[in-house]
Amino acid sequence: MTVDKLVLCLSVPDGIHEWLEAFHRMAPGLDVRPWPARPDEGGRFYVAAWNPPDGFFSRLGRPRAVFVLGAGIDRFLKRGDLPPADVPLVRLLDAGMARQMADYALAGVLRFQRNLDLYEEQQRQGLWRPQPARSADGLRVTVLGLGRIGSVVASTLAGLGYQVSGWNRGGALIPGVSCRSGMEALDALLAETDVLINVLPSTPATRGLLDRRRLSLLAPGAGLVNCGRGDQMDLDALVSLLDAGHLRGALLDVFPTEPLAADNPWWRHPKLRITPHVAAVTLPEPAARQVADGIACFEAGGTAAGTVDRGRGY
Ligand code: GLV
Repeated sequence: MTVDKLVLCLSVPDGIHEWLEAFHRMAPGLDVRPWPARPDEGGRFYVAAWNPPDGFFSRLGRPRAVFVLGAGIDRFLKRGDLPPADVPLVRLLDAGMARQMADYALAGVLRFQRNLDLYEEQQRQGLWRPQPARSADGLRVTVLGLGRIGSVVASTLAGLGYQVSGWNRGGALIPGVSCRSGMEALDALLAETDVLINVLPSTPATRGLLDRRRLSLLAPGAGLVNCGRGDQMDLDALVSLLDAGHLRGALLDVFPTEPLAADNPWWRHPKLRITPHVAAVTLPEPAARQVADGIACFEAGGTAAGTVDRGRGY
């Protein structure tokens, strides 16, 4: 199925030339129109966008489908101008993000396993004090979220010899990973977790999931890596558990409000390491390929892979 001559309205926060080149390589006949160019009056068109400006959708009219150029659709669902529910909303599936997320998670795991956090503090104090390192097979790592991204994170870490457990809503089967599901299982799992990695999507069921009570259940001295969404973790509770010495530290990529304000004290907390929502960035080439394949699928009367259930949130 060819996507020649079909119109795709594109809005990306930056790197438009790279995106246009990627679409040109992946779907040379697609008529890609970067915002603020509009579709033809009454013509059929698709949309691909990430963080489009306010009023974007109202200005365009009704597309055949909307491709979200990211893995999470939570910000789109909050928009007042999103096309009605019968217009398919499609998220990126992996598109090069799973591998990046696995790298980021590993960076967090190594930080705690190899005491890099302690050595940063010792360096500030000029202290030469070797700390006992833990072996990978002695470290209990739990991955929350076992979709296209979380399953790669969990199996990558399991392949490196960590004791990996995974948790999600519906249950999963991943070789080398002990998979569990359900709220009761989550509580029990947290108590057996040395490093918690969150890659869950933000949905009505996951917002606020890592509240004070659940964070307190983590094994004493546990470290955290949050590369899911900022609205899933109570950061004030996290900071008080760090200050009380119950938890060890956290590597945080996502926040309830982004960008994080320059005067926010979390930047300066000695047990927090902060990155600006970069754990997995969208790569134009694989993303353009998924969008082109998706458009071809819709044109052939099918449903593109990655089409979301808006009610479920992913
Ligand atoms: C990034 O956070 C994404 O959802 O792709």
